[in-house]
Amino acid sequence: MNKPRIILDTDPGIDDALAILLALAEPRASLEAITVCYGNCSLDQGVLNALSILELAQADHLPIARGADRPLVQPLLLAPETHGNSGLGYAQLPSPELLPDPTPAVTLLTERILANPGEITVVAVGPLTNLALALRTEPRLLEAIKDVYIMGGAIRYDGNTTPQAEFNAYSDPHAAHIVFHSGLPITLVPLDATYQVVFTSDDLSRLQKLEVPLTRFIADATRFYMEFHDEYQQISGCVINDPLALAITYLPELVDCQELYVDIDISGGVSMGKTYADFYGLLEKKPNMQVALDVRPREFMEHFLERMEWLAGSLS
Ligand code: BDR
Ligand code: CA
Repeated sequence: MNKPRIILDTDPGIDDALAILLALAEPRASLEAITVCYGNCSLDQGVLNALSILELAQADHLPIARGADRPLVQPLLLAPETHGNSGLGYAQLPSPELLPDPTPAVTLLTERILANPGEITVVAVGPLTNLALALRTEPRLLEAIKDVYIMGGAIRYDGNTTPQAEFNAYSDPHAAHIVFHSGLPITLVPLDATYQVVFTSDDLSRLQKLEVPLTRFIADATRFYMEFHDEYQQISGCVINDPLALAITYLPELVDCQELYVDIDISGGVSMGKTYADFYGLLEKKPNMQVALDVRPREFMEHFLERMEWLAGSLS
């Protein structure tokens, strides 16, 4: 398997931060750029968070591009109750000295993908606004993108934002509709898989044996996230959705996928943003994505912890 060359599209975000750190720590993946979108926090805050995380990980070579500050059609929805007002829970990283790349996210995505046809994997772990805008702006991307991994949606699983809809899908369902029906090779990682991936207080204690700024950051960020999961979802620990979508680009055996036709409701009623799969072929449509419906959670978590320990050790 070739090393995936990744552009990470993200709304940083606690689990987004963990996905960025995992991408930086993993030798089987090459993170080439980060594009930022509103979502868990505002666009401005998300850009600052991404820059601070790169500084924390001493990875100041990577471009970070500003993307969309709102959805295509829907009103803006942020998630301070889930990720804290800053987007990073109780973590307080120093103000970054790094600056964002002057290139807008859509331009960066377009230029890098067209310059490397068939090479770039887009991992999208926030609302899909940036990717949808890029596809509408430059249709040649359809032929040039290698593949797309999306954290989003809830297929046979309850919603985490409305009773039926998952946060990234619900935030910009029109963008998700554009991407889902684009014809791109998509792997969807919905809540069905990610809600099996729970980072526990034991996992955190293991990382905290290394007392360095990286593990302090993970502790301060996830403590807030754990409190949210406990209060709102009666889950002990926290679900780290986004790193799973990143990890399966180089460890596909972590999940079991099914090829399915998946659509998203944009009709505006109570199921707005609901993602649904046609398991029985009732709609007579060709499958449009691979869907990760099951996961080996402890194998993933062992991998994640081992990489974080390695990164913490390499920075100290
Ligand atoms: C998704 O929404 C955000 O809160 C997380 O960062 C993740 O991408 C989970 O529904
Ligand atoms: Ca996210």
